[in-house]
Amino acid sequence: MDERNVLEIRDLHVIYETDQDTVYAVNGVNLTVKKGKTLGLVGETGAGKTTTALSIMRLLPKKIGHIKSGEIQLDGRNVMELTEGDMRLIRGDTVSMIFQDPMTSLNPVITVGKQIRESLELHKHGRSEKEIDARVDEMLEMVGIPASRKNDYPHQFSGGMKQRVVIALALACEPKLILADEPTTALDVTIQAQVLQMMNELKVKLNTAMILITHDLGVVAQTCDDVAIMYAGEIIESGTAEDIYEAERHHPYTIGLFGSIPDMDSKAKRLNPIPGLMPDPTNLPAGCPFAPRCPRCMDICREKKPETTRFGTHEIKCHLFAGEEKGSAPE
Ligand SMILES: Nc1ncnc2c1ncn2[C@@H]1O[C@H](COP(=O)(O)OP(=O)(O)OP(=O)(O)O)[C@@H](O)[C@H]1O
Ligand code: SF4
Ligand SMILES: [Mg+2]
Repeated sequence: MDERNVLEIRDLHVIYETDQDTVYAVNGVNLTVKKGKTLGLVGETGAGKTTTALSIMRLLPKKIGHIKSGEIQLDGRNVMELTEGDMRLIRGDTVSMIFQDPMTSLNPVITVGKQIRESLELHKHGRSEKEIDARVDEMLEMVGIPASRKNDYPHQFSGGMKQRVVIALALACEPKLILADEPTTALDVTIQAQVLQMMNELKVKLNTAMILITHDLGVVAQTCDDVAIMYAGEIIESGTAEDIYEAERHHPYTIGLFGSIPDMDSKAKRLNPIPGLMPDPTNLPAGCPFAPRCPRCMDICREKKPETTRFGTHEIKCHLFAGEEKGSAPE
């Protein structure tokens, strides 16, 4: 693994097996997150974003969710080869996840201070009891909650404050990577902006890398260094924010999502609804998964899966660009 990266995912395949069906949720995902950088993971509902994050945490639903193949290297360790005990130590310490609903992470019957304390105790790093106490106070204050409220229970906080507590919990042990799954969607718009700004500041201060899963293209433009666009369990386009917002070539899905050619200055804030539906994940098409909705679909698209074409850091998985490689034509 490249030591400039905190996460490298190679050809990840994840399925959910239910009584009736096999859901092909993640189909050959490749992702890289650089140390201290933010990767925006974008795509419409059901694309496989949460499944990808849960796979990194090894928190897929038991018996139903399975990583079929691929590799996840997290901070130099192969996640798939670790024991459950190792994973428990890594969660919180190396990687932590912020879920869309704060109550997924909070225990309703334990005070917020005690919850942060428990996480710190699990990953002590030689801290004394006194230092841990001080750290609980510091973390709460850092997210804008008075330390005097540490003995309150989650239900005594507003939605925005609960999410701040979750962020304090996620950051308490200074993980190298945070997986933020729609961290502000449940909050109202003004609080959303505040919480995002706070996360950004903390991230810079602590040099944490982040995968930010979001539907908000404004947030992506403002906060992400790199962007990956996901469709039907595949990354169909990825690159630096500049590649995504300023390059000439784009995957037809990206163009649809942005409502036009992506543009950093455009007013596009939310993903644009594209006519039609994502393919049934239990019965994916043989060729390009976007073919049934693609305005530029060709015969080959229905038969053969497109390969990824690379233009430096910019990668697009679409037959339109087959054969064009890095440097073959100016972007
Ligand atoms: N526990 C489960 N059992 C069966 N199928 C599941 C389960 N969880 C997710 N799926 C399916 O896996 C696919 C990917 O779901 P996932 O939750 O990863 O999407 P997502 O991109 O996070 O979507 P959203 O934006 O709505 O959160 C979807 O088809 C979904 O229905
Ligand atoms: S491969 Fe074909 S169907 Fe798929 S996005 Fe490209 S042009 Fe459209
Ligand atoms: Mg999700």
